[in-house]
Amino acid sequence: MTAYYNGFPQSDKDEKIDMINLDELEERAKEVMPEGAYYYIASGSENEWTWRNNTTAFNHFQIVPRALTNMDNPQLDTEFMGMKLKTPVMISPIACHGIAHKDAEVATQKGAAAAGALFASSTYGNKSVEDIAAAAPDAPRFFQLYLSKDWKFNQMVFDAIKQAGYKGIFLTVDALVSGFREANLRTQFAFPVPLDFFTRYQGAKGEGQTVAEMYASSAQKIGPEDVRRIKEMSGLPVFVKGVVCAEDAYLAMGCGADGIYVTNHGGREVDSGPATIDMLPEIAQAVNHRVPIIFDSGVRRGSHVFKALALGADIVGVGRPYLYGLALGGPKGVQSVIEQLNTELLIDMQLTGCKTVEDIKHAKIAHINYTADNLKSNTDPSRIKPYPVTAENQMKDDDSDAVSGASHS
Ligand SMILES: Cc1cc2nc3c(=O)[nH]c(=O)nc-3n(C[C@H](O)[C@H](O)[C@H](O)COP(=O)(O)O)c2cc1C
Repeated sequence: MTAYYNGFPQSDKDEKIDMINLDELEERAKEVMPEGAYYYIASGSENEWTWRNNTTAFNHFQIVPRALTNMDNPQLDTEFMGMKLKTPVMISPIACHGIAHKDAEVATQKGAAAAGALFASSTYGNKSVEDIAAAAPDAPRFFQLYLSKDWKFNQMVFDAIKQAGYKGIFLTVDALVSGFREANLRTQFAFPVPLDFFTRYQGAKGEGQTVAEMYASSAQKIGPEDVRRIKEMSGLPVFVKGVVCAEDAYLAMGCGADGIYVTNHGGREVDSGPATIDMLPEIAQAVNHRVPIIFDSGVRRGSHVFKALALGADIVGVGRPYLYGLALGGPKGVQSVIEQLNTELLIDMQLTGCKTVEDIKHAKIAHINYTADNLKSNTDPSRIKPYPVTAENQMKDDDSDAVSGASHS
């Protein structure tokens, strides 16, 4: 079934998604989303070089399997900023979940809560923070802040999120203007569903804005003094979201940031910037456990989560895949995406002798440069040719000894 907001189709599903891996969802989402909305999510900036490399650069690091570990039954629970989480996988903040599902962030919050994952909701959310909180009152949640030029708007936001029980703020500093996202220009994308905080503050003017217009109402100039002011006005812990080098980690800690969020916005801002996983080791070294580190951008596999944790992250965010999950399965679709990453991560934990998330942080990682190492597997449906049908390779219904063969097609 499909719901409509002013003619814009929104999923109203709530069902688990059958999948082999997260990559599949990117293609399947096209079947349920209009083109402009799909490309708003899927795209990066300019040539999308950074977007591609965010994922492929995980291959620069290798998980070293360990022997004779005498360990079984690994566990994913972890604690973060005093919150008990069932997984180190976090739902990264994404604007306007109403492009994927009629219940927008309320549906995402339900899925995240069912999986015991930390949910971060965006300043550009469709649903109110009160409704999001009411969807799962005891679930852990953080708020992502696009700082406004207007401090009265900021104060309104701080009051609302505190009241709604949000545990802290991710201050986004890497999107002072929108990256040059050509797909949005081609499809002339504008947010089809109103964003709650803007409607609350500006009334009807909050509707139907383009991405560039939204960014224009946010601060283009953010400095250390703003971090101090946000901390003071909100009384909440503040992470700086958008750190990709050691210098900025020092700067953020110097002005009292409570945590560092390593991300390049999923390759949607500076194209040709480095993949975040390549920068994580130098940032982790600079931070040296003084404050927690969150990592995201390009995470599509349990092994990516493993590597980010092993290289210095405390929790690891996933972005686009869960929005595809939301479109394809609603709350349970979001849950399926987290569980898929959990399933893959648990295999790597078992095979490296890591009983806990804390153990992963001490796992052995190799750093060997391979070339031509970025292909999908040979058995991936996007690469395989039709299987040959020969006289010898067919299963026979009446031959109980036959154990393998090709499918007729
Ligand atoms: C469609 C879309 C909208 C986003 N909206 C926001 C946002 O409102 N605030 C923010 O801080 N980051 C936003 N991000 C960035 C994500 O928080 C996250 O850093 C990124 O998606 C991670 O990369 P991945 O999608 O490759 O996992 C957005 C990303 C996407 C794909």
